[in-house]
Amino acid sequence: MELEQFDGAATIEKVAALCRRRAFVFPSSDIYGGLGSSFDFGHYGVLLNDNVKAEWRRALIQEREDVVALDSAIILNPQVWVASGHVDTFFDPLVDCRTCKLRFRADKLEDSQCGRKPSKQPGEFKECDLTEPRQFNLMFETTVGPVEDSGSRAYLRPETAQGIFINFKNVLQIARRRPPFGIAQVGKSFRNEITPGNFLFRVREFEQMEMEFFVPPPESEQWYRYWIDQRLGWYLRYGLRRSKLRVREHGPEERSHYSQGTSDIEYEYPIGWSELEGVANRGDFDLTRHTEFSTTKLEYVAPDGERYVPHVIEPAVSLERIIVAMLADAYDEEVVGERERTVLRFHPEIAPVTAAILPLIAKDEGMVSKARGLYEDLRKRHSVEYDDNGAIGRRYRRQDEIGTPWAFTIDEQTLADDTVTVRDRDSLAQERISTGKVRAWLEDALEREWKTPKGE
Ligand code: GAP
Repeated sequence: MELEQFDGAATIEKVAALCRRRAFVFPSSDIYGGLGSSFDFGHYGVLLNDNVKAEWRRALIQEREDVVALDSAIILNPQVWVASGHVDTFFDPLVDCRTCKLRFRADKLEDSQCGRKPSKQPGEFKECDLTEPRQFNLMFETTVGPVEDSGSRAYLRPETAQGIFINFKNVLQIARRRPPFGIAQVGKSFRNEITPGNFLFRVREFEQMEMEFFVPPPESEQWYRYWIDQRLGWYLRYGLRRSKLRVREHGPEERSHYSQGTSDIEYEYPIGWSELEGVANRGDFDLTRHTEFSTTKLEYVAPDGERYVPHVIEPAVSLERIIVAMLADAYDEEVVGERERTVLRFHPEIAPVTAAILPLIAKDEGMVSKARGLYEDLRKRHSVEYDDNGAIGRRYRRQDEIGTPWAFTIDEQTLADDTVTVRDRDSLAQERISTGKVRAWLEDALEREWKTPKGE
């Protein structure tokens, strides 16, 4: 078996094409000509997203005793964004080209391309006519209520974190928590990015997964390091290769206004090393500002009367950045015998479909009846798919392309001895097991540690 080189294979274009072909991700508003960098998730995309969110919640909430869940509103009182600093500081520098009418981030010109062909960096053609940079606020504005005036102005949240800070007191009192403890939430955030792009990597509407961990101030550095390690460990647990991950600490000039320390967990995407997740030590910035602007004291009072404003450690990532990293890491092309196959080598817990049930001959009543029985049994607990359409080789290829780790094939021998074939997506090894043991076999297989065959 000859293997093609992975790294050249997983370009953003190939991953995006597979996602479209196999109903993971569609360009949004396609029948109206699209809307730049806006995407809709299809059937397998939804299943994949749900698995990633579930595993994030499992690690951050279910497996811990010190983190609780929250789901706050998307449109908050606009004063929240004044207090957070977003109204005054959430800007990117923007330049317009008067010739090609495109807009660019002034601080990212070297990564941008002019609208003229052959494409060059904006400013490099003699016809380029760039304006002076001006500040552009990334928050989407909207109005609340029937009358559109300055009093009705509101924003779509640019991060989920602020919804957590303004609920600090509720959680502290009602969930009876004391630092160190965390509040985690998953939900949509919106940013009017000047230069979105690279498929789902930078989009204007994305699903953030953030956790604010409130700690006694002297412990903040220790918890900051702890959460960097935890989050790096999470990516390894779900199969990303160690060689494709690194931690990069921000210099003081690079940090956000609220940050006392930030590290990016970076992944080597097909576009190069880029931020996957940020872990920040936000100090007491947010609770202090919301205390000031709301006049509600956001502090912890210990049973002995000691009071303090907890410091906050924040791991923050978007589902979209995780999905692009997982797709790029999983994408593989290989030649098996004479035939090429494209395969997504997802971690079995992440794969949208855990197993396929395939009757070898679609018209054989005995095989169909056995296969349907197995399918009905497995689907009660697992995401499984029944497929009787086309030659068996083509059905295997279809499952490989959506990353299904195992396929159970029902054939002549099943009718004779009640066994089925299990095919492994990665090794292509096949074994026979008794039909009655399939469910237990699958549950054992999901429990086993999984490592990508692509190495470290
Ligand atoms: N609450 C802190 C915060 O929002 P951030 O670094 O601006 O910090 C956190 O964003 C994470 O959200 C990033 O590490 C990235 O995973 C994701 N993210 C930010 N902007 C994004 C965009 N336009 N498209 C997709 N994901 C984005």
